[in-house]
Amino acid sequence: MWGGRFAEGPSAVMREINASIPFDKRLWRQDIAGSKAHVAMLGAQGIVSAGDADAIAQGLDRVAADFEAQGVPVDYALEDIHMVTESRLAEKIGPSAGRLHTARSRNDQVATDFRLWVRDALDEADAALGRFQDALIVRAEEHADSVMPGFTHLQSAQPVTLGHHLMAYYEMIGRDRSRLQDARVRLNLCPLGSAALAGTGFPIDREATAAALGFDGPTRNSLDSVSDRDFALDYLAAAAQCSLHLSRLAEEFVIWASQPFGFVKLSDQWSTGSSIMPQKRNPDAAELVRGHAGRILGCLTSLMVTMKGLPLAYSKDMQDDKPPVFEANDLLGLSIAAMTGMVESAEFRTDQMRGLAESGFATATDLADWLVREANVPFREAHHITGRAVARAEADGVRLDQLPLEALRAVDDRIDDRVYDVLSVDASVASRTSFGGTAPSRVREAIEAARSARAEERR
Ligand code: ARG
Repeated sequence: MWGGRFAEGPSAVMREINASIPFDKRLWRQDIAGSKAHVAMLGAQGIVSAGDADAIAQGLDRVAADFEAQGVPVDYALEDIHMVTESRLAEKIGPSAGRLHTARSRNDQVATDFRLWVRDALDEADAALGRFQDALIVRAEEHADSVMPGFTHLQSAQPVTLGHHLMAYYEMIGRDRSRLQDARVRLNLCPLGSAALAGTGFPIDREATAAALGFDGPTRNSLDSVSDRDFALDYLAAAAQCSLHLSRLAEEFVIWASQPFGFVKLSDQWSTGSSIMPQKRNPDAAELVRGHAGRILGCLTSLMVTMKGLPLAYSKDMQDDKPPVFEANDLLGLSIAAMTGMVESAEFRTDQMRGLAESGFATATDLADWLVREANVPFREAHHITGRAVARAEADGVRLDQLPLEALRAVDDRIDDRVYDVLSVDASVASRTSFGGTAPSRVREAIEAARSARAEERR
C-alpha cells in the first residue's frame, strides 16, 4: 500500500518486526466504526461521491461480517488492522475502496481506533468494579456485627468488624472507579481528521466524525492528536492503582485462609489442590491476583518508557502502545472477576476471628480511654497504667476482661467495676461511633449510603 517508491520488498524480518497485525487485530471493530464515520463524512462533504461513499460503507459492513465469522487474518505483508481492513474492502468493492483513505492517515486512524478501544475498556472495568462493590456491600451487611481483630503492623491492634473491613475496600474501589471515569472525560475527544500530523486541506467536518463516534468533540491540535498516548497511560495508571487494591485484598485472603489465621475458607470454586499433599486447599486465584498486579504495573511502566523520549509527532515506537494496554485489560478483567467470586462465596470463620480479637489484648485502648473519661487521667498516664494491666494479664495468662477487679486496682486504684463494660470486644466496637468508625451502627449507615449510591448509578 505504500510500495510506490520502492524497487525491492522488505526482508522477512523487516516484515515481522513491522507488523502489528498479530495484536492490533483486536481493534477491528473500532477500525470499521472509524472508517464508516469517516466515509459518511467524506460523502456528506462531497469529498467522495455519494455512490462511492455508499459502496464503501456497505463494503465495510461485509468486511466486518467476515471478521466476525472468521476472525481477522494475520498476514505480515499487510502490517496492521488498517491495511487488512482496506485490502479486504478492495476485494469486496474494487478500486473505489482506494477513496476511503482520502483526508486520513493511519496516524489519526490508529489514534482514533485506540481511543475507542480504551474507552470501552474503561467502561467495562468501571462496570465490573461496580459489581465487585455490590458483592462487598452484601458481605459487609451480613457481617456488620462480626468482630475481628483489626491490625496495625499485622499485630492485633483494636477490634473492628468484618463489615467495616470489607467496606474499606468498597471505598478504595470507589476511588478506582472515579479515576477510570475521570480518564474517560479527558479521553473523549476525537483525533480523526488530524491526518498524518498537520491536518488536511480537504474540507472535512471533524465535528461530524467526532459525534458519529460518540466523542464530545474533535481534539484541538493535530500534532498532539497523533502523537500523544496519555489517554492510554491514564487508563494504565488507573488499572495499576486498582490492581494494587485488589492485590491487597488478595493478600489478606491468602493470610486469612492460612491455618494459623483460619479467618476464611475459600469456596471449592476458588481453591486448588496440591498434587502431592492431599490436605491442601490453596488460594491460587488470590495469589494470582496479587501476582497480576505486578504485571499490570509493568504494563504502565512499559508504555511510559516507550513514550518518554519521542519527539513530535508519530514514531513507530508508538505501535508498541497496544500490547501493554491489552495485557493490562485482560489481567485486570480476570482479577476483578476472581476477587468478586471469592468475596461472594467466601465462608468467613467468625468464631475464629472473634477468638483472636479477644485474645490479643485488643481492648487495651478502651481501658486507657475509660481512665481518661471516668477518672480524668491524662491520656499518656492512662496509656502507661494500661500497659501495666496488660503485662499483668499476660503474666497471669488471662484476657484483660478476665483480670479480677483487685488485680486491676492493684495497678491503679481509680479503676472500678464499671470498667468491665468497656473491656469486651463487642463493647469496644460498639463504642467507636465517630463518623467513619467501626461501630456496627456506623457500618450499617455506610452500607446504606453505599446501597443508595449504587441504586442512584443504575437509575
Ligand atoms: N500500526 C501502526 C500503529 O499501530 C499504525 C500507524 C502507522 N503509521 C505510520 N506512519 N507508519 O501505530
